Amino acid sequence: MTLFLSDPDFHQPLASELPEGSRRELPGLGWLSENDLTQTPLLAFARQTLPQIIETQAVSINAWADRLIDAVAGVLPDDQPWHLHLWPEYGEGRAGLNRCELIRNAMKERLKKRRRHLLRSLNDDIVPFTPHSSLVQCFLTSPETGWLSVSIAPQPFERRGIISAFPRGFIPWAEDKAAPSRAFAKVIESELRLGRQIEAGKTVVDLGASPGSWSYVAVKRGANVIAIDRSELREDLMRSPRLRFETADAFKYKPPQMVDWLICDVIAAPQRSIDLLLEWLGERRMRHFIVTIKFKGADEYPLLEQLKQCAPPLCADFRLTRLCANKNEVCAFGSLQPD
Ligand SMILES: C[S@@+](CC[C@H](N)C(=O)[O-])C[C@H]1O[C@@H](n2cnc3c(N)ncnc32)[C@H](O)[C@@H]1O
Repeated sequence: MTLFLSDPDFHQPLASELPEGSRRELPGLGWLSENDLTQTPLLAFARQTLPQIIETQAVSINAWADRLIDAVAGVLPDDQPWHLHLWPEYGEGRAGLNRCELIRNAMKERLKKRRRHLLRSLNDDIVPFTPHSSLVQCFLTSPETGWLSVSIAPQPFERRGIISAFPRGFIPWAEDKAAPSRAFAKVIESELRLGRQIEAGKTVVDLGASPGSWSYVAVKRGANVIAIDRSELREDLMRSPRLRFETADAFKYKPPQMVDWLICDVIAAPQRSIDLLLEWLGERRMRHFIVTIKFKGADEYPLLEQLKQCAPPLCADFRLTRLCANKNEVCAFGSLQPD
């Protein structure tokens, strides 16, 4: 069984992305499916995926710690890193969070006494998966009940399009009061999910750039930006020696040579943004990309199928996710297949 977690308002859109038939709703959480992950390559509306999940119970903190150790001992590959995402799905206050913290500590104490090698290979940092990473996810639906999933390497890496390295797939909105708008948070979140940042000296094309918060991130990092829009960007960005502004149609602009990044947040019908991304990928105009697909209504979500089919063969890494920082939008981001 696999559990696909959704955000509250995106329960039905996620259901329509899953294969017909064998799915069951876990109210308030998402969908349980008997299908294995090969049938669900990309899911724009899944917040997190928990493969091989089982329902479980434990009467105390120590009993939870034992459940976790039983689930991993002799199961995880020796001397390879593993991550534990443990969170509550009940209650309003801190009680559930505190319980999870106590369970984590109890598990570590027990591992110190009996299976030190497992403690040594437990990595508490949130880092992108490598082919050697395993992931254990456990959430409590009450102090004594919950669900447990163990995804053994290389699965988390291979399925990083739907299995997030962030607990529950959640990334808080980035804050920066100096940015021209809060939209900059979409770039930051995409970079975090990708495990790759726009870096100093890189070339960036920003389509639909005004008022400039995506360009702002790139300029601040020391990248060189070509910003395309019909309206100018904020004054300080227009003066930046790192930014060249061109009044042009985002859908007609072609860079003179391959650029490191395409970033695109243009307001347009979803099919236009999808076509734009596929054209840039097909013509190998950029190495990496972050592109927003904006929707007016849920009836447009099936348009994403074309991206799910056509983009992955052109890419070394392709993600399609409704970011925590997205409203009625989805972001496509990733890296082109190298030559
Ligand atoms: C949501 S805003 C972009 C916000 C920007 N990413 C930021 O963070 O400041 C969308 C922009 O797309 C621009 N736009 C829409 N259609 C365009 C087109 N065909 N060519 C160029 N720009 C376009 C609009 O002028 C608008 O500034």
